[in-house]
Amino acid sequence: MTVTVRAPAKINLHLGVGAPRPDGFHPLATVFHAVGLCDDVTVDPSDGWALHVQTPDWIPPADLPDPADNIVTRAADLLAAHHGLRRSGLVEVEKGIPVAGGMAGGSADAAAALVALDRLWDCGTSDDDILRLAAELGSDVPFALVGGTALGTGRGEILQPVADHATWWWVAVPSRQGLSTPAVYRRFDELNPTAGAEPTPPDEVLRAVAAGDPHALAAALHNDLQDAALDLRPDLADTLAAGESAGALRGIVSGSGPTCVFLCESADAAREVAGGLLAAYDVVLVTNGPVAGAHVVAYG
Ligand code: C5P
Repeated sequence: MTVTVRAPAKINLHLGVGAPRPDGFHPLATVFHAVGLCDDVTVDPSDGWALHVQTPDWIPPADLPDPADNIVTRAADLLAAHHGLRRSGLVEVEKGIPVAGGMAGGSADAAAALVALDRLWDCGTSDDDILRLAAELGSDVPFALVGGTALGTGRGEILQPVADHATWWWVAVPSRQGLSTPAVYRRFDELNPTAGAEPTPPDEVLRAVAAGDPHALAAALHNDLQDAALDLRPDLADTLAAGESAGALRGIVSGSGPTCVFLCESADAAREVAGGLLAAYDVVLVTNGPVAGAHVVAYG
């Protein structure tokens, strides 16, 4: 039996960040949005365990984490331990989400692996348990399971779906060099020594999503980590300016960066913006959202 599960990248339409909690994590008020850049995880039965990662030519394989420390292996160990099993399988991860890019590519792999291995091992894990295991693996992993558009609180793992009936068009410009999420949060702390415990609420983004109006959403997009990411990577300001002068309604850094994402008025506008950016950037991706969370795409 082979199972392939696809999981989406995320953009934070709103990312409000508060002062660090005693456990070191930052309280968030965020609006996650799943977009059509995806990773696929395929699992086959095996007595042992082997993990292989395939990258498109625009992702340098050198950017990938050490296989021994891959979040997919951690996901397998956690699910196996939950059911008293030993981890087993041949696992192939096909990347389509920028690595260390602020779009939760590793979280997508973990979510897809949980769903795929649950099928392969015939575990029948309940939704509640799989969401709890996902939260143990990382703050963004539960959202990669759920997808769509959702409000995230806690450290991002507590989710509430947001009705989103529009299709939003995005252009994404990945960066050749990734950014470390903990480093961006550390710089946020240095730049915001008096941050309060309560993150900025996402009301304006939620109103714009409900209205389905790209101009209102463009005006409302908000990322508290953007200044920290720009401080570490000043070149990203040029990328944001380039997308906006190519016709995007608004550009923001995605999550902790360094991928820059641009909201566009329509599919045609997104293609035009991408065309303009291609003059200066090698890799420019057009996508839309919301899309589904981790789901089986091939089974047999
Ligand atoms: O939960 P996850 O493994 O994705 O977090 C990676 C790192 O990002 C954490 O170790 C922490 O440094 C930072 N982080 C944070 N507050 C959050 C989420 C992540 O400080 N809400």
